[in-house]
Amino acid sequence: MLNTQLKTILDFEYNRQHNTLDLIASENYTSKAVREAVGSIFMHKYSEGYPGARYYEGNEYIDQLEILAINLVKKVFELPQDWGANVQPLAGSNANLAVYNAILNPGDKILSMYLPDGGHLSHGWSYGTKEEKANEDVNSPLYRGGSRKVNIVSKFFNVVQYKTDPSTFLIDYDKLEQLALQEKPKLIITGGTAYVRNIDYKRVAEIAKKVGAYYLADVAHEAGLIAGKVLESPIGIAHAVTFTTHKTLRGPKGAVICANQGIIEKINKSIMPGLQGGPHNGTIAGITQCLFEADTEEFRQYSAQILVNAKVLAQELTANGFNLITGGTDKHAILIDLTNKSIGGKFASIALNAAGIVTNMNTIPYETKSPINPSGLRLGTPSVTTRGFKEEQMKLVAEYINKVIDIASEVDNSSVEAFRELVSSNSQIKAIKQKIMDLCTQFPLGE
Ligand SMILES: Cc1ncc(COP(=O)(O)O)c(C=O)c1O
Repeated sequence: MLNTQLKTILDFEYNRQHNTLDLIASENYTSKAVREAVGSIFMHKYSEGYPGARYYEGNEYIDQLEILAINLVKKVFELPQDWGANVQPLAGSNANLAVYNAILNPGDKILSMYLPDGGHLSHGWSYGTKEEKANEDVNSPLYRGGSRKVNIVSKFFNVVQYKTDPSTFLIDYDKLEQLALQEKPKLIITGGTAYVRNIDYKRVAEIAKKVGAYYLADVAHEAGLIAGKVLESPIGIAHAVTFTTHKTLRGPKGAVICANQGIIEKINKSIMPGLQGGPHNGTIAGITQCLFEADTEEFRQYSAQILVNAKVLAQELTANGFNLITGGTDKHAILIDLTNKSIGGKFASIALNAAGIVTNMNTIPYETKSPINPSGLRLGTPSVTTRGFKEEQMKLVAEYINKVIDIASEVDNSSVEAFRELVSSNSQIKAIKQKIMDLCTQFPLGE
C-alpha cells in the first residue's frame, strides 16, 4: 500500500492530469500497459553491460527483454541492415552526451542550433557576462557562446550555434553550409524543442560530409511522428539519431540512440562503462511496450491526427490574431509570438493554467526579452490527441485560449504571485475552467 502522504500527492496529480488539458508539446499520456511494464519487477535487476555480456549473473530474461526492445526499434524505425540501437540511455540529454563522448574529444567543435531559436540545452549552451553581451553582434548568424557555461556540453566542447533566418525563422541551409565551411566543426546537430518546421536531413548530411563532420539528428520531439510514418526520418541519413521515448512516441521517460554499426559500437561503450551504470530495466520494458503500441495502424492514425490537430489549432489561433512563428507548423507543436498581445509568455501560461490549459512559456527566435518571461508560448497536440480530440475540439481549445489571453491581458501583472491569484479567482476564467473540465470528462484519459 502506498504511504498515505504519498498517496495524497498522487491523487492530487491524478486529478490534475485528468481534469486539465495538457498542451505541453513534450508531454504525453502513456497506456496502462506501459506503466505496468515500467513499474514491473524488471526494475529490480542490475544488468551492467549488454545482452550476452553482463557483469552480473541472472540476466537471461533481461537479455531477452533488451534484444526484444532493440529489435522493435529496428522494426518501427526501419533501421538499415548496418544500423544498431542502444535502448539504455536514462534520458535524452544522456543519449546526446553519449554520442559526444563516443565520437568527440574534449575541446572539439560542435555546431548546433541556437537555443533561443528552438535548439536544446543538451546541444550546448552558455551565455555572456554583461560586458560580453554588450560586445555581441546580435545580427550574426553564428553564436559563439559566452563565459557562463550553463550546460556541461559547453564546458567540455567548443559549442558554436547557428541561428535561423531573421525574416523567416527557418534554417537557412546555404548559411549553415557557409558556417560549417568556416567553422569546420567535428559534429553538426539538428533538432530541438521549438523548431516547428521540417528539417532537410539530406541537405545537412551533405553539408556534414563536405566538411568532414559527423551529423547527429536529435528527433526527441518527432520520434512518434516518425514511427507513425507521418514525418520524414533521418535514420540512414545522419550518422547518429537520438530520441526520447516519452513525447510523441507515448512511452516512458527514456531515450534511444540509433547509429550505423561502426558508431553504435562506440556509443555502446560510451553509455556503459563511459557514462552510466546499470540501465533502468523497468523503463526498457516500458519502451518495449510502447514500441509494440507504435507498431500498429491505430498509432499511425493517432500520429496523423496529431498533425491535423496542430494545423487546426494554428489556423484558428492565426484567425484570432495570434502571430505564429514561421506562420504555422509541420509538426505537433506551434510557437506563438505574443508580442502583439500585451502579455508575455510567463503570464500567458499562468493564466492558461488557471483555466486548466497547461502550456509552457518559450523564447522565440531573435528574442528580446528575458528567458524567464519570454515573448513566446509553445503549444503541442500529442496529449490532447491521446484523449481523442479532433478538429472540432481543437477549434474550441483555440477559442478558449484566445478568451483567456484577452482576459489576462487586462489583469494587473506587477507581481507574479498576485497575478496568479487574480487570474485564478477571475469569474470568466473560472467559467472557462469549467468548460475545460467538461471537455476532459467527455474525453477521459482512461485508467
Ligand atoms: C530535442 C531534445 N533533445 C533532448 C531532450 C532531453 O531529453 P531529457 O529531458 O529526457 O533529458 C529534449 C527534451 O525536451 C529535447 O526536446
